[in-house]
Order: sequence, then C-alpha cells, then structure tokens
Amino acid sequence: MRYIPVHQLEENMILGQELYDADGRMLISKHTELTDENIAFIAFLGIPGVYIDDEFSEDIQIQEIIEPEVYKAAVQIIHRVFIYSMDEGTDNEEAALQEEVRKIVKATLKQKDVLYNLINIKSYDGYTYFHSVNVAILSAVLGAKLHLSEEELMDLTTAGFLHDVGKVFVDPEIINAPRKLTPEERAMMMDHPRLAYDFLKTNYHFNENVLEAVYQHHEWYNGHGYPRRMEEKDISLLARIIKVADVYDAMTGRRSYHEPYLPSDVLEYIMGRNGMEFDPEVVKLMIAEFCVYPVGCEVQLSDGRHAVVLENHRGTIMRPTIKLFGTEEILNLTDDRSTWNITITKLLM
Ligand SMILES: [Fe+2]
Repeated sequence: MRYIPVHQLEENMILGQELYDADGRMLISKHTELTDENIAFIAFLGIPGVYIDDEFSEDIQIQEIIEPEVYKAAVQIIHRVFIYSMDEGTDNEEAALQEEVRKIVKATLKQKDVLYNLINIKSYDGYTYFHSVNVAILSAVLGAKLHLSEEELMDLTTAGFLHDVGKVFVDPEIINAPRKLTPEERAMMMDHPRLAYDFLKTNYHFNENVLEAVYQHHEWYNGHGYPRRMEEKDISLLARIIKVADVYDAMTGRRSYHEPYLPSDVLEYIMGRNGMEFDPEVVKLMIAEFCVYPVGCEVQLSDGRHAVVLENHRGTIMRPTIKLFGTEEILNLTDDRSTWNITITKLLM
C-alpha cells in the first residue's frame, strides 16, 4: 500500500482504504478500482490523498494506530456533541464519548513504542469533527509517550475531542473567514475556550482536569496566549499537549485560508516556536517520535531519483529506509554507508 496525492490518482488504481464522509458514512469501499468519477469525487471532498494498493508497494504495511471503525464512531459521536447536544439530553452522548475515548486510549497504550506515522489520520480532512478526533488521537499518542497514567490519558483524550466545542457558539462566518479578522471578530473567536468550558460544565459531568484543559488549549508557554495569559507549568500538561496537537493537525490539514503544509515544515514551525508557543518537553518528544516521511509516501532524493518510504528509524527520522522506483532497490539511509551522500529533498503529498 502507498500514499498518492489526489492530483496523481489515475483510473484503475485500486483504493487501499475506506473513505468516509463528515458523518462517518462510508463513501468508497476498500479495494474499489478507481474511475475518473471516483477521483473527481475524492478531489471534490477536499481529501488530499489516499492509499492505493499496487504490486510495487504490496510489501508495505501501514500501521493503523486507530481502527477505521473506532475513528468512524468517534467522528459520529463528536458530530452529535457539536450539533445536537443543546436540544437533547446529554447523558447518552457523554457515555458514548467515554466509550470511544477508552478505545483510543487502549489502542495508543498498546502501541506507545511505535513511531508515529503522521499520515495515518490525515486522509480525513477539513471538518471540525475530524479535526477534533485527530487532535484527540494525536494528544493520546503524545500523552502515552510521556507516560501519563491511563486515567490522565482518558482526561487528555476527552479534552482533545472537546477542545473546540466552543466554536459552535461563534458565527461560522468568523470561523471560516479567509481574511484577517476585525478586532471585534477576533475577540469573539478568542472567547471559544471559555464558551466551551461554560457549556461543558453546565451540560455534562466531565471533571475539572478535562474542563481546564479545554479552557487552556490556546495558552502559550511564554504567557502570550489566550484567554487568561497563563504561563509555563501553570498551564495544565494536558492543555500543553493539546496545544501542540491542535496546531499540528490544523497546519497539516486543508483550511479555508491555507493549503496543507508538509509534516516536516510543520515540525520545523513547531521547533521554531519551542518555549514560546509550545512546551519544550512536548516538542522534544514530537521531534524524536514523529515521522516526517511517513511510511508509504513518495519522496524525491537529492540525486533526482524517486522512492517510497518503507520504514522509519527512531532518532534519525530524516533518514528512513526507502524503496527506489524503477530498480526497486532498497536503501537504508541511516545504516548504509553508501547512501550517506543522499538526502531527501521533497515529500510528495
Ligand atoms: Fe481552539
């Protein structure tokens, strides 16, 4: 299986994954032979790329941290929280949400030694619900690697799911504005963490750790964030983790005001704001554990050749093992001495 950006999809390619809509309904099933119509539809949905199966990549396994069914159920439940919770009872939703959180925490704990293959969850894009689920999963992965207890991971993942629920109360025109906001609009936007806190406290039974993490998810490590300009360790660890996960997912995803950035560019951005916007402890972990060249992706080398990433190596995330197109030669950029003059110059996404 390998990842193909949507503009490089061709007729008769075999889809290697299932595709869902914003409500978690399946749109195209795995193993479908793509038609021009399918491809146009995938592009229309704003999905940046998909996994396909072919002979060249049949030995490449993509390790899913979260099963597609769990992901789908999580999107559905978060959709309900965002859309319906103001009119209907919330007890059922809360129980269903906790159930999904438990599954995600169990899955991340089981795989906490796996290098995080960032693209796994990036095929779902562009909707607040997907973003909420992505942030919950990314946070859980980071939290597990930071050795948080299971209980703390439950709180962290719950808060990751709910961090942006306050946006329901902000005019969508402001949220999606592809332009600079006026000072009044910006103030409304910056109120969403507090709105979320009040809404969740009034309508649900989440504990204070969850509520505070939601309230604090836009605070900056250096005190320049909002809404309360908290600093360093005064900000809860859960909020400091969600902060990084939120920015990571927002930047690597498509938004009304920008095209997706490459994982390597986003990691560089995050590193550049280490200690200012982000907690150094969380950033350090991210640099060590997150793959910038995800397994299954096509890369361009400094000598002009193209290859697919086969495996990443802890500590040398810039130098994975790759398989060359054409010769099908396998190169370990970390261990093979003969490859030391080769670098990866581009990730094709
Ligand atoms: Fe937010």
